[in-house]
Amino acid sequence: MVFAGKTPKSKELYDRACKVLPAGVSYGIRALPPYPFFVEEAQGIKLRDVDGNEYTDFWVGHGALILGHSPKKVMDAVKKQLPYGTHIGFSHELEIELAERIVKNVPSAEMVRYCASGTEANMYGTRLARGYTNRMKMLKIEGGWHGGYDSLHKSVSYPFTRSESAGLSPKTTEDTDAVPFNNLEAARKRLKAREYACIILEPVMGAAGFLTPEPGYLQGLREACDATDTLLIFDEVVTGFRLAPGGAQELYGVKPDLTILGKIIGGGFPIGAFCGSAEIMEHIDQRKYPRAEDRVAQGGTFTGNPISMVAGCTTLDLLKDGRIYISIDKLGRRMRDGLEEVFRRGQLPATVTGIGSTFAIHFQGKIPRNAGDTAKNDLAATKAYFAHMLDRGIIYLSPTVTHCWISSPHTEDDIDAYLAATEEFIKGYKP
Ligand SMILES: Cc1ncc(COP(=O)(O)O)c(C=O)c1O
Repeated sequence: MVFAGKTPKSKELYDRACKVLPAGVSYGIRALPPYPFFVEEAQGIKLRDVDGNEYTDFWVGHGALILGHSPKKVMDAVKKQLPYGTHIGFSHELEIELAERIVKNVPSAEMVRYCASGTEANMYGTRLARGYTNRMKMLKIEGGWHGGYDSLHKSVSYPFTRSESAGLSPKTTEDTDAVPFNNLEAARKRLKAREYACIILEPVMGAAGFLTPEPGYLQGLREACDATDTLLIFDEVVTGFRLAPGGAQELYGVKPDLTILGKIIGGGFPIGAFCGSAEIMEHIDQRKYPRAEDRVAQGGTFTGNPISMVAGCTTLDLLKDGRIYISIDKLGRRMRDGLEEVFRRGQLPATVTGIGSTFAIHFQGKIPRNAGDTAKNDLAATKAYFAHMLDRGIIYLSPTVTHCWISSPHTEDDIDAYLAATEEFIKGYKP
């Protein structure tokens, strides 16, 4: 049965939600057409909505849930912590525990500061870069999404020239420039003037469909930064502890100066973090930099909250022996290879990108190198595919970009069901 015929209670909740939540949602990208389903229970990679329908989830909490929804060991650790305090507002040992795990695994991390989201981590991380270098200009990548922080909310959507939001003061973005991903020459040219505090990028570009860096690209950026005293910042909110315990920097062997983390390190609870060498991170230390104008300010009510800390520690401990990566990466390969085969057989122009446990589908014949290329995807096919998969109980976000994550509860059967539903789409789709 199609979605609208089997979701009357969700429709009722949607009508109610629209009265109190703009567009009926808490985040614009969750406003699914024709209306969102409302989840009653999330376990593993299965979502059950208020009408009793089940969905296989390939969105897994914006990619944060590498162990799926409500993993027992994480839930048990959280339950154990609850009676001791949910939000302490003073120092506690769990803050050290999680930081020690991050420092042990992430090559560039010697010290860590937490915040409540990836957006905040990018805000504070780039502020630190500006404070440390005493330069105000920042370079980013066209199409790069680093959350909603004003100064990075520029050149996100194609054609990368218009304002990304009403209410964004041009003054907050005038020091930010952007270059295309995988174009080393463009970055080198900009950096040569030695006026940028940092270049910030996702080493594997999640926002454009998990686009991988071409050989030598990240190394070239490292060298260009070294030559111009620019800080290299990897936003590993998506890739951190997803591609490897040390993230993309471990996988590609390139060490940034600062790393931005979020999602997985919170074990399903809100978090963000930025980390780097002690020499840079100590610019936040009021003992070393007592004067406000010398110090980089950072803080937040919920920073280091014990629930995110304990859930994060438990999650990282479960990832430690590497077995989960072997298993989800294998499923990722099965999915990407399978999709390529299905599209080839069906003669529908589509390409597949991704690495490890990530995959994305681009309805066009060429493999994209950067966000400018992904903007050429066939939007009508992308939307029709989303609607088809939703009718078959397979869910990811968003309707206009096909980006998916695999988590540890996914099985080969889930991959095969996804592939079969895709094949069915290809057979029935009339452009
Ligand atoms: C690469 C990247 N950076 C930053 C963010 C922002 O994180 P948050 O949504 O926790 O603010 C996201 C969110 O998806 C992201 O993908």
